[in-house]
Amino acid sequence: MPNIIKFPELDSTNLYVLKNIAELEHGDVILADSQTAGRGRLGRVWFSPAGKNLYFTIVLKDNLSAKIPVHFYTILASLAVLKALRNYKIKPNLKWPNDVLVNGRKICGILAEANKQGLAVGIGLNVNMNKSELDKIDKPATSLLLESGAEQNRDKLLENILTNFFEYLKKDTKESFREWRKEIDLINKKVTVTDAGKITKGIVRDVTDEGLLLVDTGKGVVKVMSGDVSF
Ligand code: BTN
Repeated sequence: MPNIIKFPELDSTNLYVLKNIAELEHGDVILADSQTAGRGRLGRVWFSPAGKNLYFTIVLKDNLSAKIPVHFYTILASLAVLKALRNYKIKPNLKWPNDVLVNGRKICGILAEANKQGLAVGIGLNVNMNKSELDKIDKPATSLLLESGAEQNRDKLLENILTNFFEYLKKDTKESFREWRKEIDLINKKVTVTDAGKITKGIVRDVTDEGLLLVDTGKGVVKVMSGDVSF
């Protein structure tokens, strides 16, 4: 098992890793029971109350190659979470670009951030949050408690996710990418992608290994980096 360094509270586990990366080892995991400034994608806040969920960041420093985009580690993390959640009686799925959903509601968010010395792969997973707490989130969200109907052991789930993640890290990158491409299930689908008011409609022809969608609008193929996909 990797070295898990626990804190009762941090501003953000990603921020902690980015600030302290020089002293941290490859494979270390920073875990916080709560975060006061949990970071989401696109400058959003990640709701991080104490005693309920998992907020952790994996430190990666070795074998990083400029050829492998940061987004690839998000892909590995999403596959690791997906596999772990499949051990419960729920049906999780991946939503491009990097969400894990159950019944159309977000259960997990992933944010990979890099600096010169390495990578911080942050995972926030709603484990034992109840309905009234989930209602405080401005987007449709769910938790393992809500979906499985029972409180779940956070340590066991963390261990499972980390085992999966480090297994994926050893695998052939192309194989993992293919697995992810299948899980996001977007190829040849007719989609509408909304990104900060900009709407792109068309058929998804492919996803690049940087995670960009190639959407055929009928007038040409455009690259879409982020946004909400609907069908
Ligand atoms: C998203 O917007 O979907 C990404 C959310 C990522 C949240 C996790 S919680 C642990 C780690 N520390 C942070 O500040 N953010 C990530």
